[in-house]
Amino acid sequence: MSEYKIAIVTGANKGLGFAIVKGLCQNFKGSVYLTSRNEDRGKNACQELQKLGYTPQYYQLDVTDEKSVFNLCSFLKSRKIDLLINNAGVLFLKDSKESKINQAEQTLLINFFALVNFTEAILPFMNDHSTILNISSSSGHLSRIPSEKLRKEISNPNLSLTDLKSLMKKYIDSVKFNREILDGWGDSPYVVSKVGLNAYTFILNRRFKERGILVNCVHPGYVMSDMTRGAGTVSPEQAAEVVMKLALTPETGGLYVWHNGDTVPWDGPDPRGYIDGKPL
Ligand SMILES: NC(=O)c1ccc[n+]([C@@H]2O[C@H](COP(=O)([O-])OP(=O)(O)OC[C@H]3O[C@@H](n4cnc5c(N)ncnc54)[C@H](OP(=O)(O)O)[C@@H]3O)[C@@H](O)[C@H]2O)c1
Repeated sequence: MSEYKIAIVTGANKGLGFAIVKGLCQNFKGSVYLTSRNEDRGKNACQELQKLGYTPQYYQLDVTDEKSVFNLCSFLKSRKIDLLINNAGVLFLKDSKESKINQAEQTLLINFFALVNFTEAILPFMNDHSTILNISSSSGHLSRIPSEKLRKEISNPNLSLTDLKSLMKKYIDSVKFNREILDGWGDSPYVVSKVGLNAYTFILNRRFKERGILVNCVHPGYVMSDMTRGAGTVSPEQAAEVVMKLALTPETGGLYVWHNGDTVPWDGPDPRGYIDGKPL
């Protein structure tokens, strides 16, 4: 690994991403890139951190924009990344006025398809023995998909990325034809996007095991941020603690880690019940 280490965090102008960058500025030995889709918001966030005495770097990155992804790759040139944290994400709350199909398309686009495309583009820049951490959710647990047939397909250890993308596209088609419940996907695009993200995490980890690239995903807890309109049980700083541990000292790859630090079986019972004590 080169002496000059680089960490990149997506969607880091606010919320959990901002707290992660702050944590990395304190603990990561190298350059920390705060990226954001909106340049003003991102640069303001960097200034906020500079006022606290930290020195984050800035780069504009909209994960849905091919040109923006290309620009970041061109900027990196021969530099290698040691840590990538895919944090950017969206959630439509239950009272959203957006049509169901728009919600499904937007959520799947940002939380799954764009994340995959961005990660695939940046992979050639990942160092051997580097880390990729995907910010998932409790919604990413496999048990959140009602259909057993779909759960088996999604968690098949031989599932390719092409197969996974086709499954996610099938979900969009189900929504288009008002069949998502009947087809066994359930009623939440966010769940499908995060389950897809977890499946991608495990595919990627298998693909890059030999290069020592560890790929994990984490449920950070119920975080007070704009995404939840401030509701939640932990601050972004508190939620960033488990992220920090998994980002800086991952024991291995292919893990799905709960907010309390426990590694949970993706295809086991829903940890919201046996860890969080939530009646399911
Ligand atoms: N809050 C929770 O309770 C909770 C629980 C579990 C998991 N998570 C996950 O944690 C992550 C961070 O969420 P948060 O709570 O911090 O939400 P947040 O405050 O709404 O932050 C989301 C971030 O993602 C960015 N983003 C959205 N679309 C993007 C795109 N196309 N390209 C680049 N950045 C984009 C947003 O940028 P703009 O400011 O420009 O919109 C913002 O910086 C998400 O992946 C979320 O799913 C959150």
